Amino acid sequence: APVPPPDLTKCDHHPKEGLDCCPPQPSAVRPFPPSIEWDNIPKFRPRETRVRRVRRPAHAVKQDFINKYSEAVRRMRALKDDDPISFVQQANVHCAYCEGFYKEFPRFKDTELQVHFSWLFFPFHRWYLYFYEKILGKLIGDPSFALPFWNWDAPEGMQMPNIYTDNIFSPLYDEKRSKKHQPPKTAILNFNEKSDEDTPRDVQIEANLSIMSKQMGANGKTAEQFFGCPLRAGEAPAPGAGSIENIPHNSIHNWTGTDLNLGLNGEDMGQFYSAGRDPVFFAHHSNIDRMWYLRKKLGVRGRREDFTDPDWLNSEFLFYDENRRLVRVNVHDSLDIGPLGYVYEEVRIPWQGARE
Ligand code: C2O
Repeated sequence: APVPPPDLTKCDHHPKEGLDCCPPQPSAVRPFPPSIEWDNIPKFRPRETRVRRVRRPAHAVKQDFINKYSEAVRRMRALKDDDPISFVQQANVHCAYCEGFYKEFPRFKDTELQVHFSWLFFPFHRWYLYFYEKILGKLIGDPSFALPFWNWDAPEGMQMPNIYTDNIFSPLYDEKRSKKHQPPKTAILNFNEKSDEDTPRDVQIEANLSIMSKQMGANGKTAEQFFGCPLRAGEAPAPGAGSIENIPHNSIHNWTGTDLNLGLNGEDMGQFYSAGRDPVFFAHHSNIDRMWYLRKKLGVRGRREDFTDPDWLNSEFLFYDENRRLVRVNVHDSLDIGPLGYVYEEVRIPWQGARE
């Protein structure tokens, strides 16, 4: 059976010490029953009739975009912490879906809901960004607002994007990041503790392109290799991640987060509960999402299918939309970005055909 949406009334307030990522209770569902009648939560069907939001590479955006984006995030940060579209709550969405706050509803009370390390990874994050982007657009009254993507798969994007690193005035800045990996330090796409930090830029670029080619190609041929292992209702969480989720997704999270020798645990980007507090998260995930889009568009050695398993297609999540309305979405409606109303700007794809 498909993974059902979480029961917000059963959110466990402290599965981890000192951490409470439970969302505000939905006022849309009234009166709030002891357990939600799921049919009362409207199903959200994307049906944007035209593409209005163009996601562009973060390293190439213009000043007027930076101003708009900054203003939107500034307004989001200014909202009260218990507002479902506030900066804090939006970061908590990620935390709650990854740190054991939810048990699957309703029959599998002891199964922890986890959206990483399985086939839920790509669809969950696509929806998460979809609503986050709409919320930012709404806050500045601009329905064409689109998140930028961190173009780490091309040499010109292989460093922390500058728009996130202004530590004086920008709401896009986060101080909980690696000090060693500030621009112009070259990103290491398969970063781990043993990585050689002093590899010359051109050598690292070459290595990064070959990693991309491999993760999108040989290592991601079948749906299972690319998306991750099936996860059905009631099954133990985290059966296995897909190629891109492992590298460069996880590795870039860790590369961006605080250097471990500073006594922190890699926050913000290097931990599930805190990753959404760093605005660069959304540019990182925009590019992760773009990899799914590109895979379907380019085909990977002739194969580019999504899963067709109904247990995947009918898995559901809950989000607050830009009007603070709680909605249910499913995996099926995330497969095609057309009806979601956004698109990725075409940029060159230098890892295509790179040596693996
Ligand atoms: Cu939900 Cu990049 O992690």
